Amino acid sequence: MTASIPHRQRGRSDSLAIAVIPGDGTGPEVTAEALKVLAAVARLEGFRYDIEMLDWGGERFLRTGETIPEGGLDLLRRKDAILLGAIGHPGVAPGILEKGLLLDLRFKLDQYINLRPVKLLPGVETPLAGRGPGDIDFVVVRENTEDLYCGVGGYLKKGTPDEVAVQQAVYTRKGCERCIRWAFDYTRRRNSPKKTLTLVAKTNVLTFGHDLWWRTFQDVAREYPDVRTDYNHVDACCMWMVKNPDAYDVIVTTNMFGDIITDLGGILQGGMGVAAGANLNPDPGGVSMFEPMGGSAPKYTGTDQINPIAAINAVAMLLEHTGQPAAGARVERAVARVTGTKMVSQAAGRMGHGTRAVGDLVVAALAE
Ligand code: IPM
Ligand code: MN
Repeated sequence: MTASIPHRQRGRSDSLAIAVIPGDGTGPEVTAEALKVLAAVARLEGFRYDIEMLDWGGERFLRTGETIPEGGLDLLRRKDAILLGAIGHPGVAPGILEKGLLLDLRFKLDQYINLRPVKLLPGVETPLAGRGPGDIDFVVVRENTEDLYCGVGGYLKKGTPDEVAVQQAVYTRKGCERCIRWAFDYTRRRNSPKKTLTLVAKTNVLTFGHDLWWRTFQDVAREYPDVRTDYNHVDACCMWMVKNPDAYDVIVTTNMFGDIITDLGGILQGGMGVAAGANLNPDPGGVSMFEPMGGSAPKYTGTDQINPIAAINAVAMLLEHTGQPAAGARVERAVARVTGTKMVSQAAGRMGHGTRAVGDLVVAALAE
């Protein structure tokens, strides 16, 4: 990615303060490689950083019952960025760590943008026949704090044959407007020849919530006459992403649809081994969190088989968004060199190298 965001104003030293949550399963392994790359690029580009390792995740939850420990949010608010490995533990019921850790961090730190680039790197296989890196290079801006993710709902007559479950989607003008405005700004900064922002929603069925999105999109668009606009229903978007991925530049969409289409995007760009995302709070003083999109992959834990490229890409995004764009671009170029010339596949166990060796290859490529 070429667009970068000014370092948030926080009046601290020139050292980047990073909290690292390696998390569960293969999270610590991919995080270790990401940190190796961070150390190497900091040496080469001459910036300083410090890291604080946090043992949050499934193991800690099983030990203490805590997801975000007491004082944890304040600790994070004092950092410049957060690097997250993976969350998900076979011994913890589904939903507890997702809601209690990942989603809570996104919500409580008000990281209202989930930025997910879909970029096919050289040498990486896509399931789309006849498509290469020039064809797949777009970005999804997913709203990250509202929609079906808000946790509003409940049961009636739970456990009886008459049970009713309600799960509500909440959309606010403030929530969609700040996301849409950020997406327009981003499209402008990215300045690709297409310079097009596509709203993806379902206005033909979700005639309240997505009507709010539609009207807000039209209103904000007037402030950006240089940015072209388009609209896709989400189902059609899934079709076009497969048929004509080259038609997209930037997509802005709701939380739930963004979740779904970025898994499709992830597979188009070579799978969860490469896909990374940024949870951004772009406001002054906001703290953002960077993560590989894949899960904790318990079956690969400790086997040196998991692909660390996504976690390394997350470091590239972290640097781009916290005032070190040259370092971020350097990591991106090194990753592209490694995928393009050294790796057999992006699938775990089939990379032609182990996890640590891939990290070493990226470190070596940084200096080239
Ligand atoms: C993602 C994940 C999360 C989400 C889950 C783990 C809660 O799928 O980051 O896309 O739905 O946002
Ligand atoms: Mn998801």
